[in-house]
Amino acid sequence: MLNATVQQALNDQIQKEFHSAYIYLSMSAYFEAENLTGAASWMRKQAGEEQEHALKIFDFILDRGGHVALQAISQPAAEYASPLAVFEDAYAHERKVTQSIHDLYALALRENDYPTQVMLQWFIDEQVEEEKTSSAIMAQLKMVGDSPAALLMIDRQLAARAGG
Ligand code: FEO
Repeated sequence: MLNATVQQALNDQIQKEFHSAYIYLSMSAYFEAENLTGAASWMRKQAGEEQEHALKIFDFILDRGGHVALQAISQPAAEYASPLAVFEDAYAHERKVTQSIHDLYALALRENDYPTQVMLQWFIDEQVEEEKTSSAIMAQLKMVGDSPAALLMIDRQLAARAGG
């Protein structure tokens, strides 16, 4: 059985994951409107992954006999200044999510909640990947500056992302 504090924190994390999906979907719309369809597709797949993250925690709460209480999702940004600004936001966002996962893990340690610790290990690894990926794309976009040809090359590369 889940204790109330851990359950609340897990429900909060479900909200953060769905919020992430919403943010990435908005980013996808931005790229689609800019005719950067590779980046749009990349962001849409990312949004799908975030929903999977939310559902992993959703299922975990239910498997433990807990209570899922879905929360309101706030509005994401609807305008972005540039492709680089989008990936800067994505990277900053993932760093916040990492912090939130680490706080959740620390709580599970304090509460001696071993199953939650094990479940969160997947998320800890995943956050390393997510930060690495968004930071690498951000660095590439910084490198290309205002070159449309180079931007299109990055867009092609982003189109090749597997999944979803
Ligand atoms: Fe679910 Fe991008 O962290």
